[in-house]
Amino acid sequence: MPTRPTIARNLSTLRTAIAAFRKKRESVALVPTMGALHRGHLALVKEARRRADRVVVSIFVNPTQFAPTEDFGSYPRTFDTDIAALSEAEVELVWAPTAEVMYPEGFATRIEPAGAAKAGLEDKFRPHFFGGVATVVAKLFTQVTPDVAVFGQKDYQQLRVVTQMAKDLDLPLKVVGLPTVRERDGLALSSRNAYLSEADRAVAPMLARVLNACAGRINRREPIEMVLEEGLAELKHAGFAVDYLEARHALTLAPAGSLKDGPIRLLVAAKLGKTRLIDNLAV
Ligand code: PAJ
Repeated sequence: MPTRPTIARNLSTLRTAIAAFRKKRESVALVPTMGALHRGHLALVKEARRRADRVVVSIFVNPTQFAPTEDFGSYPRTFDTDIAALSEAEVELVWAPTAEVMYPEGFATRIEPAGAAKAGLEDKFRPHFFGGVATVVAKLFTQVTPDVAVFGQKDYQQLRVVTQMAKDLDLPLKVVGLPTVRERDGLALSSRNAYLSEADRAVAPMLARVLNACAGRINRREPIEMVLEEGLAELKHAGFAVDYLEARHALTLAPAGSLKDGPIRLLVAAKLGKTRLIDNLAV
């Protein structure tokens, strides 16, 4: 029988548990999540397990990264199933603060990331998003004090923003990014896939297929602008409302016009019905 992880809901329980690890000179890895855990999250947990003696998973649906018009209220919350999965994965500690613990009355400090956070991708459509993410992740890092934190490349711009934030604030930890875990048909696993209607679910894998096709053509030296224009047309034809389909420098996220501009990452965001999906791929 797997043992249930300790569930810390306030800072003193969290700090006591972390202090016990540190007393035994054990290293700590953190996997930040908003719950509704799937195989993608569990791949991060597995990597965390590999990299440290103790694994902490945070589950916190962070209100400050949702706009009032977004899905904070309806975001899937599956705490009991999440804990069962984390028991199975032998996670020692779950950090699940309430909103009042994370943002007590009078909370007045925010981290405002620039650089990759202003690349004109997710930030253009969710202007509040990276300020909320950077603030909560900085708090998670200072609360848990991990040696390593594991994130998914699925949220590629977020990974770049968090990596830079940890560096800029001299936080003594390593940020690790893991490849996207996908369904057999290529669709990137996401807690939001649960919103897709059956018809939209059948169309959704197109997103990854178009990224793959575009990456292949760019590698065959076809002009990037033309390849992306045709990819965009294909997505629109399939019924996606596309926010962006872009080729960017893989590290700076600056626009990339040709393979000579350095390593390229393709990034896409599009809506199918009411569900907004994102994906990305290395060229
Ligand atoms: P959430 O969407 O729950 O994702 C938690 C972590 O899982 C992120 O690092 C994300 O990139 C990773 N992830 C999601 N789907 C994945 C997939 N298919 N394959 C691999 N990794 C995947 O991202 C957030 O939460 C929040 O913004 C958070 C960082 C917790 C701050 O609130």
